[in-house]
Amino acid sequence: MSTIAVIGLGYVGLPLAMALAEQHDVIGFDIDAVRIGELNDGHDRTKEISPDVLKQGRAKWRSNPAEIRGADFFIVTVPTPVDQYKKPDLTAIVAASESVGRELQPGAIVIYESTVWPGLTEEICAPALERASGLKRGTDFHLGYSPERINPGDRQHTLTTITKIVAGESPEITRRIAALYGSINGGNIHVAPNIRTAEAAKVIENAQRDINIAFVNEIAQICHKLDISSADVLEAAGTKWNFLKFTPGLVGGHCIGVDPYYLAHRAKQAGHQPEVILAGRQINDSMAEFVSGEIAARLPASGARILVLGLTFKKNVPDLRNSLVAEVVHELHAKGHAIEVHDPHADAGEAKALYGIELLADIPDVARYDCVIGAVAHDGYGALDGSRIAGLLREGGLLADIAGMWRSLALPAGLHRWQL
Ligand SMILES: NC(=O)c1ccc[n+]([C@@H]2O[C@H](COP(=O)([O-])OP(=O)(O)OC[C@H]3O[C@@H](n4cnc5c(N)ncnc54)[C@H](O)[C@@H]3O)[C@@H](O)[C@H]2O)c1
Repeated sequence: MSTIAVIGLGYVGLPLAMALAEQHDVIGFDIDAVRIGELNDGHDRTKEISPDVLKQGRAKWRSNPAEIRGADFFIVTVPTPVDQYKKPDLTAIVAASESVGRELQPGAIVIYESTVWPGLTEEICAPALERASGLKRGTDFHLGYSPERINPGDRQHTLTTITKIVAGESPEITRRIAALYGSINGGNIHVAPNIRTAEAAKVIENAQRDINIAFVNEIAQICHKLDISSADVLEAAGTKWNFLKFTPGLVGGHCIGVDPYYLAHRAKQAGHQPEVILAGRQINDSMAEFVSGEIAARLPASGARILVLGLTFKKNVPDLRNSLVAEVVHELHAKGHAIEVHDPHADAGEAKALYGIELLADIPDVARYDCVIGAVAHDGYGALDGSRIAGLLREGGLLADIAGMWRSLALPAGLHRWQL
């Protein structure tokens, strides 16, 4: 049994700490004292862990860094976002490395799970650890990387069922890291030859997904120009055995829409201009403008009443970060339309703080909106039937289905529909 400190208890760190605590002594550390208080009260605002499971868990939750001193393993799971110019913002990962460094004891292994560009762990985190600890990497303490591949809200591909990629600075350290993660996932481990390979594997997984979605988003834009249904085109093309099935949509959040910028940044440093990666980002980032333009073109120039269903960056999660729906709302609002927004998963205070958007507590029973926008395919929205939706629209109103969740929904005559 090892002592493990998990640094950063968000979507990634909390489930990891909970799983490791079934086999090991775990201290979960976060600089957010409010988050620590909530976890100690059995409340996970990310909704990844239920109150019952959280209360029964064996991990300790702490905001005092002194409590992580002397751990055998430190696992860093802090955010790696981009700034307003889409440049990697390393503030949290460097600060976390310094916190760990100050508490590091000889013999410890520090593993990074945050998504980074190839080389960042060894070139930026290791020196920060050395500076703060006064210890030498490779002799006094050791380094590893094991990317997190969970998909919040996904109850099928979970921490204990996903293959874990691991890499350490030497074969012995790799073996110890593999044994640690293998203890919680039945030994489902892929050993990468070195840390840079493991870092690159993670970042290209998300860059690949971004590009695939960008391709169908571009197809959707072309199909709208040609007045063909992109959904019908993709359904037909999808009958070919090797056609890759992706659906157009708004790419937000802190992974798919962010990680490619880390890869692009490092590629440029190395003297390579990453054309495809950045083109994909540019198309996906342009989708809010495209969608709001398409919807606005079907409404009066201003003054329409619009109900938006869904604000989070993807379905069935409370995560509001980098939501492109908020951009759609702001663009339609800027044209003079009156927008109301509902989202059963999002926190109302966070929606207000992040985007200045007040959330409705409930979807009205009957209303006369000019337009209802299905922005996020939360389960509850997909289950709404034609008469419930028709009850929300005035005669001649528009149902705009960005998320593609009402494709087979029968609507009464006299209503219009638009689908991405
Ligand atoms: N959420 C995902 O779907 C997902 C999946 C795979 C990988 N990742 C990667 O994992 C990393 C973490 O993502 P997340 O979604 O869990 O982030 P998150 O924002 O949900 O959680 C991060 C936590 O770290 C804390 N934190 C910030 N700075 C800290 C510091 N200096 N010391 C201690 N705690 C600190 C924050 O308070 C927060 O609670 C990122 O690199 C992300 O790209 C995320």
